Amino acid sequence: MNPIGPVNALYPMPTTLVGAMINGKPNFLAVAHVGILNHGTPQYLSIGLAKIHYTNAGIQTNRSFSICLPSEDLMVQTDYCGIMTGKNTDKAALFDLFYGELKTAPMIRQCLVNMELRLHDVLDFNTHDIFIGELVQTYVDDRVMTNGKIDISKLRPLLFDMASMQYWSLGAAVGKCWNVGKALKK
Ligand SMILES: Cc1cc2nc3c(=O)[nH]c(=O)nc-3n(C[C@H](O)[C@H](O)[C@H](O)COP(=O)(O)O)c2cc1C
Repeated sequence: MNPIGPVNALYPMPTTLVGAMINGKPNFLAVAHVGILNHGTPQYLSIGLAKIHYTNAGIQTNRSFSICLPSEDLMVQTDYCGIMTGKNTDKAALFDLFYGELKTAPMIRQCLVNMELRLHDVLDFNTHDIFIGELVQTYVDDRVMTNGKIDISKLRPLLFDMASMQYWSLGAAVGKCWNVGKALKK
């Protein structure tokens, strides 16, 4: 094994569109640095946003944001949301929006899974705000459901890889979790 320095190798990650209200208007930016803090209720998720982004102030003010999951077919629009800034571009105009319980977390009808979160805490890193949100509600289009659960083979999430700087698609399932390992039990 060869050391290559402290290279974050946790890719691929799902590419998400994070929504928030800023100065009374909805805005979205592409975010791949999302985290799952626990598994349970309440459920907490994190997003790491560089402090220079326009969106951060809106999340702080309204104490809410959304995490929307674009499918592969929204690749171009998603990338655009990661290139342009809401400071001078109406990125929300690309999408049909809706709002949920929190009223201040804009979500996207073209994204077949949308999560709305209440801001729980902010970790003030040197260059980044780490926003921790409590998941309040998840909105799903029937087209990505199988037997009452989100079916990632139908969702076709847009995967992001930093090393290749490419979007990737999901492969096939290879085995049952908490199950296939039993084959090694003595
Ligand atoms: C695929 C992709 C993933 C990105 N992930 C992040 C991220 O996790 N955190 C971040 O701060 N910026 C990320 N960005 C950059 C922001 O989306 C981008 O700077 C955006 O223009 C900021 O928008 P705003 O100024 O309207 O807030 C990503 C961009 C792309 C294209």
